[in-house]
Amino acid sequence: MQVYEIKKDIYWVGAVDWLVRDFHGYSTYKGTTYNAFLMFDEKTVLFDTVKHNLCSDLVHRIRTLTDPEKIDYIVVNHVEMDHSGSLPEIVELVKPEKIICSKMGHKNLLAHFHRPEWPYHVVENGETISVGKRSITFIETRMLHWPDSMFSYIPEEKLLISSDAFGQHLGTSERFDDEVDQSELMYQAKKYYANILYLYSPQVRKLLKSVADAGIEIDMIAPDHGVIWRKDPGKILKAYENWSHHRGTQKALVIYDTMWHSTEMMAKAVADGLESTGVSVKLLDLGVNHRSEIVTDVIDAKGICLGCPTLNNGLLPAMAGFLMYLRGLRPAQKFGFAFGSYGWSGEAVKHMNKAMEEWKFELVHEGMKVKYVPTHEDLKKCKEIGQLMGQKIIDSLENQN
Ligand code: FEO
Repeated sequence: MQVYEIKKDIYWVGAVDWLVRDFHGYSTYKGTTYNAFLMFDEKTVLFDTVKHNLCSDLVHRIRTLTDPEKIDYIVVNHVEMDHSGSLPEIVELVKPEKIICSKMGHKNLLAHFHRPEWPYHVVENGETISVGKRSITFIETRMLHWPDSMFSYIPEEKLLISSDAFGQHLGTSERFDDEVDQSELMYQAKKYYANILYLYSPQVRKLLKSVADAGIEIDMIAPDHGVIWRKDPGKILKAYENWSHHRGTQKALVIYDTMWHSTEMMAKAVADGLESTGVSVKLLDLGVNHRSEIVTDVIDAKGICLGCPTLNNGLLPAMAGFLMYLRGLRPAQKFGFAFGSYGWSGEAVKHMNKAMEEWKFELVHEGMKVKYVPTHEDLKKCKEIGQLMGQKIIDSLENQN
């Protein structure tokens, strides 16, 4: 089994998951990787494991380099099962002197595996341990994205093993950022941020500031998913800084579902209005666009238009599900507008407005309902509201600069 030396005597020994297409609701059409790293020094240290079904890949990679029983420490940076699922088998095989984890990691390992007899070694935030010529400093990153999450930093190598942060669900035979297509890489990194970390943006901002204030030197970031940032770790740090500040761009989304194409006609007219102001617009039918792709666009869109007809006094299921998903990610600092057709009651617009009010979006209009099928005048009105939103986006970005 192929292993990769990422720094002298530090190897990638993880697994590529070529098959996964859904990651708790997130579409992973490019697959993913579960990265684990093996460091040789006076102590031999394994950082994280892999998803349970790929445990044998990890074991064979370790055996390529050493006898598993020679591993002294296992570091658990994060307890979610994609990184800890193989832990029971690996602990059995390795019989480690220590399983190193954060305080919350200890609690969560007990709650997952119910093995109080394992040799846990709980580290404090900022604690450093020596493993020979090199050392490991543990940096707690609570809620990025679980309470147990932490980074492992090896100062002598300027290497940050960053758990989920800075990752991408990108399954490839390449291990490094400079070996893959840059637009695909940044898209997958953005998609990861949008779907996993967006709601924790305040914690991301705080973490980036504390890393900068502490003067931690980083020349490689090794996340637990996707490729390792060796050529340009600054690129992903800068992108996180940008995404975490919810800085919108001159971009709007018209996200809709439709029953008999009336709401779709309105959606197109709203998009026309936005486009006529020079704002970049995407028309996103929930029937053909996956929610995890749409939220990737949400993070840098300044305007969000939601369209849905009324079904049984409520929303169509695709819009209801999308709002529930987006609500969990806590979008912020956007303009909003809701619209939709109806037959006799017409509550859909009210439900979409309520969601956007909860997110503190600035609504550019009270919402537009059309009975059954829009007239030419109705579509003209939709276009005007699109233009109104477009102008507000342009003005707000000018004031921001
Ligand atoms: Fe990749 Fe939160 O696990």
